[in-house]
Amino acid sequence: METKKQRVFSGIRPTGGLHIGNYLGSIKQWVDLQDQSNDCVFAVVDYHALTTHQENLGKNSINLAKWVIASGVDPQKSPIILQSQISEHTELAWIFTCLEPLGELYRMTQFKEKKTGIKEGAVKTGLLAYPLLMAADILLYQTEIVPVGEDQKQHIELARNIAQKFNRKFGKVFTEPKVRLSEAPKVMSLKNPKKKMSKTDTNGIALLDSAEQIKAKIMLAVTDSAPGNEMSQGIKNLFALIKIFAPELLANFEKEYENKTIKYIDLKTELTLAIGKHLQPIQAKYSQISAGEILNVFRASREKILPLAQKTLSEVKKAIGIL
Ligand code: TYM
Repeated sequence: METKKQRVFSGIRPTGGLHIGNYLGSIKQWVDLQDQSNDCVFAVVDYHALTTHQENLGKNSINLAKWVIASGVDPQKSPIILQSQISEHTELAWIFTCLEPLGELYRMTQFKEKKTGIKEGAVKTGLLAYPLLMAADILLYQTEIVPVGEDQKQHIELARNIAQKFNRKFGKVFTEPKVRLSEAPKVMSLKNPKKKMSKTDTNGIALLDSAEQIKAKIMLAVTDSAPGNEMSQGIKNLFALIKIFAPELLANFEKEYENKTIKYIDLKTELTLAIGKHLQPIQAKYSQISAGEILNVFRASREKILPLAQKTLSEVKKAIGIL
């Protein structure tokens, strides 16, 4: 049976140092969706990164696109755009800032987290308006599916809500997008499994890590002192990683866990080997891609997808009476 091609859009911020949470939560499912012949567009969202990271943006954007390609996204099939090169994103975002009430933005969990520790008056406007630019990214391409990690779910729901409200008020212009979570939508920190793995987490496994670095980090992963009935967060996280990187070993470790015969050192050793084996070809490919190639990918991707962005924006303007 032939399934209908769907429009897929997703993005990542070029804030440096991708980790396996980013890879498992987003990029890996980008590759899967592309390989199922969907119409995908992926973005390096540098204007989103600008809200928190103002250094090395250009270099980080290039390196991020290298990781996306090295992981299996084929820019011939799926355009990889640099957000700032398609001004329709910021133009549509401005329209949304004029339509959306502040209350919707104040309730965003990520905004609450990111403004923590910053004096009230010093919080940047861009941090608050961030989800509106994200909604513009998604809605500009008439997106049906948005593959992301759990932490972005609320933003996608907001984008869907913005589309619904706009369509009701001005006539149907936007497709209503749906979130798609991966098998590992929330990879937790190895050191503190109550928190998600993040770019600031020094024990997070970076895509660039060597076999020794991976080993050192996995060996330090928090487990629990004695296997009990209630599985700890740390163990759950290690099992979730085994399920993806070494699925053939999962049933056996689960059985050992149940029988209370499991040795975490064995699980950690196998996981270290499996992650290293998975990342090795990606790292090899990453090192072969030049910055020049990426600039060409950005240029060609923009050319390919710009007509769709222009079409949507002109429909939006027409609907609201902007001449
Ligand atoms: P960003 O750059 O913070 O993260 C990129 C992707 O990685 C996922 N992720 C994780 N998944 C599982 N476990 C983790 N520990 C983990 N940490 C991060 C994120 O959920 C995300 O999918 N706002 C977005 C970027 C963006 C975007 C968009 C995404 C801008 N416009 C439009 C989709 C559609 C962000 O900050 O992602």
